[in-house]
Amino acid sequence: MKRPSTNPLVCLLPALFLFVNCKTLPAEPTGLVTENAMVVSAREEASKIGVEIMKNGGNAFDAMVTTEMALVVAYPFAGNLGGGGFMVYRKADGDVGALDYREKAPLAAHRDMYLDSLGNVVPDMSTKGATAVGVPGTVAGIIAVHEKFGSLPLEEILAPVIRLAENGIVVTANQANRFAAVRDRILEVNDSVTTFPIDSKVNDMVKYPALANTLKRIAEDGHDGFYKGKIAETLARFIQEKGGFITEEDLAKYEAKWRQPITFNYKDLRIISMSPPSSGGVTINQIFKMIEPYDIGKYGHNSEKAIQLFTEAARRAYADRNYYLGDPDFIDIPVDVLLSSDYINERMSDFSFDAASESSKIKEGNIQMAESMETTHYSIVDKEGNAVSVTTTLNGAYGSKLYCDELGFFLNNEMDDFSAKAGVPNMFGLIGAEANSIAPEKRMLSSMTPTIVEKNNKLWMVVGTPGGSTIITAVAQTILNSYEFNMSMQKAVNAPRFHHQWLPDVVIFEPQGFSKELKTDLKTKGYHINEERTPIIGKVDAIRVLDNGKLEGGADKRGDDTAVGF
Ligand code: GLY
Repeated sequence: MKRPSTNPLVCLLPALFLFVNCKTLPAEPTGLVTENAMVVSAREEASKIGVEIMKNGGNAFDAMVTTEMALVVAYPFAGNLGGGGFMVYRKADGDVGALDYREKAPLAAHRDMYLDSLGNVVPDMSTKGATAVGVPGTVAGIIAVHEKFGSLPLEEILAPVIRLAENGIVVTANQANRFAAVRDRILEVNDSVTTFPIDSKVNDMVKYPALANTLKRIAEDGHDGFYKGKIAETLARFIQEKGGFITEEDLAKYEAKWRQPITFNYKDLRIISMSPPSSGGVTINQIFKMIEPYDIGKYGHNSEKAIQLFTEAARRAYADRNYYLGDPDFIDIPVDVLLSSDYINERMSDFSFDAASESSKIKEGNIQMAESMETTHYSIVDKEGNAVSVTTTLNGAYGSKLYCDELGFFLNNEMDDFSAKAGVPNMFGLIGAEANSIAPEKRMLSSMTPTIVEKNNKLWMVVGTPGGSTIITAVAQTILNSYEFNMSMQKAVNAPRFHHQWLPDVVIFEPQGFSKELKTDLKTKGYHINEERTPIIGKVDAIRVLDNGKLEGGADKRGDDTAVGF
């Protein structure tokens, strides 16, 4: 009988083989898996309505229109008619594109509109109430999508949303808490009178009849039903009566804009993301390219080395973001230089695993942009393989808190995403730059990062999140979790996240998943860690296409987010 080998190397071979193979075998799905189509959004009602439209023969773009509108009803925290957003798409034939329906400054806006006679920023003026409102872009966005790619009539797409507004939605625990948290501010902004159901409790059914009527008008008359005629008149009059600047002319002039997305390769992935006036695509491109020369997958998920590398890339990318980016229709952005290999290699040339870099020594400049945490994202894939990635926002929670009773929706406070005065912090304690100064009809800089990823030239992932300036790092980490750390879509979305954005020069960690020892080691290397502030970072909603063509949803456990499909 042959004796078993005692050579330790031979004993280790099966384990070694398994290890090597595990790295290459795709992660088993742990989220919802469906054969044909899927919507992942912040509310089950919205995901369901989007899926129903696709079951009835609609495509991903029809589903975009209905999901966006269903979020106005079911998720007024960020879903909106009075805000704006960005969409990145990839059609089944591989064609990619992007839509900018970001709000813009009214014609009456000017650079110093939020400053007093002494040149100081007037508190609350760009954040609360009518003075904070930018010209809304959402309706222009959905109509542009429908006109270019829709396959079902608008009335049919909006019918289930109108029914949802009329029949009502059930208030979740998260929603009831949010209502309670902003109740007093909503009353203050609306002169103590509002039809918005802020006193609703968990499991109450709330109905939105005025919103249903507004949606009917949009279903009948499309873009002009909102930007001209009765709604535009009512909206402009309402905002002006409350002290704001938006006129009927502002509304009549608003158009969504088709833009070229930012596209780049990371190893064998091709990443397609939002171009300016969002900073998302440029910044995520820089982060990935700074990481690419290192084998981050070998360092281990959320290991010290992986956190260091990611943090140093983010530090450098955010420094550029905050200085160079703004509305491309108003400023020249050196995108080609910012994304060139020479520039990116140079940026990382002083990086070392031995010690943290110091943000004060990283140029560009001493400036920083700001966005709020209150935004929402949804991802859609249809049975043909068309993919849509959308992030949409009112900026703050319930935007400016100004609610138009007659029309049934909140208005944004997106004007605060401009820099009111270079060097002065906005409502989030962040500081703005010249490239993002206010001008009539200019779009304010955003961090929204709706993203689509191809692997081996095929659709692989649709991903995005709310989270203000943390959006970009949360999207990047979700892609890395799946690609480099071989997680299922659901695990990649749920995994603990961290964030660094150049200034303030601190790493922020989510409450769970990062040990004391890890933080101590990072501190020893010179990293500043904000121990007091450990917020939830982002609420990622994503879809992964499995090797067998099925779809796996990743609906963030941090909220009411839900994947629905068939
Ligand atoms: N207001 C959030 C953003 O645009 O990034």
